[in-house]
Amino acid sequence: MKKLAVFGATGSIGRAALEIVKSYPERFQVLGISAKTNLNLLKNLAQKFKVPYLVVENEELAKKLKASLNYSAEVLWGDRGLKELSILPEIDLLLIGISGIKGLIPTYYGLKKGKIVALANKESLVCAGGLLKKIAKQTGGKIIPVDSEHSSLFQLLNKEPFSNIEKIFLTASGGPFYKKPIREFVNITPEVAIKHPTWKMGVKISIDSATLMNKGFEVIEAQVLFDFPLEKIEILIHPQSIVHALVKLIDGSYLAHLSWPDMKIPIAYALTLFERIKLPVKELNLEEIGTLTFEKPDFQKFPCLRLAYEAVREGNFAPLILEAADEVVVSAFLERKITFDKIPYFLEKTLKEFKINFQVKEELEDILFLHQEVCQFTKNLVEKGS
Ligand SMILES: NC(=O)c1ccc[n+]([C@@H]2O[C@H](COP(=O)([O-])OP(=O)(O)OC[C@H]3O[C@@H](n4cnc5c(N)ncnc54)[C@H](OP(=O)(O)O)[C@@H]3O)[C@@H](O)[C@H]2O)c1
Repeated sequence: MKKLAVFGATGSIGRAALEIVKSYPERFQVLGISAKTNLNLLKNLAQKFKVPYLVVENEELAKKLKASLNYSAEVLWGDRGLKELSILPEIDLLLIGISGIKGLIPTYYGLKKGKIVALANKESLVCAGGLLKKIAKQTGGKIIPVDSEHSSLFQLLNKEPFSNIEKIFLTASGGPFYKKPIREFVNITPEVAIKHPTWKMGVKISIDSATLMNKGFEVIEAQVLFDFPLEKIEILIHPQSIVHALVKLIDGSYLAHLSWPDMKIPIAYALTLFERIKLPVKELNLEEIGTLTFEKPDFQKFPCLRLAYEAVREGNFAPLILEAADEVVVSAFLERKITFDKIPYFLEKTLKEFKINFQVKEELEDILFLHQEVCQFTKNLVEKGS
């Protein structure tokens, strides 16, 4: 029986994970769940699974939640609550489905305790990949990728020695605007931008998918996770979202991983530690789909892709700067402070103009502080520019 903590339990990843847990009560026990502010859903999930440890954003919410529960649970709050849950000795595996930089906190502390971390939160790898790998190496902690492309690559790359791999390809649906003329980007509203054509996801990642910033982050994530040279990581636009990743081998052949776009598959693969279990997912019928298409991405129309490659080349916390700026700029777009076409503009401006004015140690506190500084810098840019 695996003992789990599900961080971000009220989100798209967290809910999918708990659906799997519900179907396999003999395999999994949920000892902790967290949310930010969605008390109603957290309470329902907590009561359904009788979860002993809960985490919410602040003390007030924690008191409210505790008072409303129909059983007795320990309710923690804030960054400290995320830390406490991640290091509980009785928990073996953490699923990190928090969106944004906060996901770094349980990831970091869980790895520090040598735990297995099933990581959906790409922000922590983009901002602190080096630190997380260093900690995991020291403690024996494990990072298992949950992002679908990286789960696919993890499975494909396991089958071949490194020297056999010539290139890796991440696929991208292209998002809702791949075919839209760029002159119309200025009129794109948040309501339209969050409607992803193939995946059902949280708001932030949906906007990132529409700008292709998400795919840029995934390139960074792949480079960190698999220690792969940047020039050997490519993106292919594949609107059907059936092939999630491909590996090109030196003999000219390719390996590919195919499934219906459903996050339950990579989540279950990580939670079971690589066992295959039956899942309530739509049957993949290739003859029904008929055609799978692939094309090169348009870096002109989607400059976020270029920014991601440039950030990796630049190194020195540039990926963190890009990610922090993106959190601010996406919020500004959702609040209608900036238009869709301006998203890459503010990202590039932050990358060019933000200066690190202190000695950043590769430690959690420094990384979180730097992230905050960048967010403030981009907020000021947005205020001035809009
Ligand atoms: N969804 C996907 O298909 C998918 C695929 C690959 C990777 N990912 C990655 O997985 C992560 C989660 O994505 P998602 O789509 O599941 O997001 P989501 O639906 O927006 O859910 C986010 C979850 O994190 C919690 N949360 C948000 N901000 C928080 C904060 N500051 N402190 C504590 N908890 C916080 C939310 O709580 P409340 O509900 O209370 O706000 C919610 O439980 C992201 O990093 C994303 O890039 C997602």
